[in-house]
Amino acid sequence: MPVPTLQGQKVVVIGGSSGIGLAVAQAALAEGAQVVIGSSSPEKVDAAVAKLGDGASGAAVNVRDEANVQAFFESAGPLDHLAYTAGDWDRAQTGAIAELDFAAAAAGMEVRFWGALRAIKHALPRLSPKGSITLTDGVRTHKPSKGMPLSSAFGAAIEHLAKGLAIDLAPRRVNAVCPGFVLTDIWNGTPPERIAKLTERFPVPQAGDPADVAQAYVYLMKGGYTTGQVLVVDGGLMLI
Ligand SMILES: NC(=O)c1ccc[n+]([C@@H]2O[C@H](COP(=O)([O-])OP(=O)(O)OC[C@H]3O[C@@H](n4cnc5c(N)ncnc54)[C@H](OP(=O)(O)O)[C@@H]3O)[C@@H](O)[C@H]2O)c1
Repeated sequence: MPVPTLQGQKVVVIGGSSGIGLAVAQAALAEGAQVVIGSSSPEKVDAAVAKLGDGASGAAVNVRDEANVQAFFESAGPLDHLAYTAGDWDRAQTGAIAELDFAAAAAGMEVRFWGALRAIKHALPRLSPKGSITLTDGVRTHKPSKGMPLSSAFGAAIEHLAKGLAIDLAPRRVNAVCPGFVLTDIWNGTPPERIAKLTERFPVPQAGDPADVAQAYVYLMKGGYTTGQVLVVDGGLMLI
């Protein structure tokens, strides 16, 4: 049996201009894939494509806008795998329920959940029957924090979307990656001592490297018998 690779396959990473998505794009390239990235800022996409080098291309796409998403996938053409890592860190999800602003709370689903579905809808006509879709949620789905019940609920919606789609879109495979604390730009304003304090109790006592999390996406693309699963990459945070 040949060892699976991504050689000659096309991987589209929505959210691929930074953080976990950029690391997924790098890892897929290292596996021999051709990679297309998309995110809303044309400048970030251009900078990321330049950094990724040979085999990578990209275009701006705002997943809030279905027509924009449709145009992106029409231009991207046939694909083998879709990785969806776009997220916008909407702070409206935090705070007391007694003060909940429903419109702002609903908007918190716009990029991570509805954006993922817009991408899936328009990727699907071009997605190989042997292909895969990998979504992204976060460890707060399983380890709720005070003041953030919506984060847990939204993450659960993404995980169960993956399970539902694994049945609905079969034989295409659909999975999710659930990252823990991963050192991407979103933590730039956090002092290193605070990060060390937050992570010292983890079984792997440090923040995650995006490159480590990216391996989960690559496995879910290559692992042709895995579908409807959530792969947690959290240094063991879930265990404590
Ligand atoms: N880092 C962590 O500790 C951690 C932990 C748990 C879960 N996660 C989840 O993992 C995912 C990636 O996080 P990250 O840390 O890699 O964040 P990041 O570096 O901020 O990456 C987010 C990506 O989403 C894109 N994006 C945002 N809004 C978009 C829109 N409207 N349309 C298209 N693209 C959009 C961003 O690019 P543009 O700005 O160009 O749009 C960027 O490429 C998120 O869903 C996050 O919730 C992260």
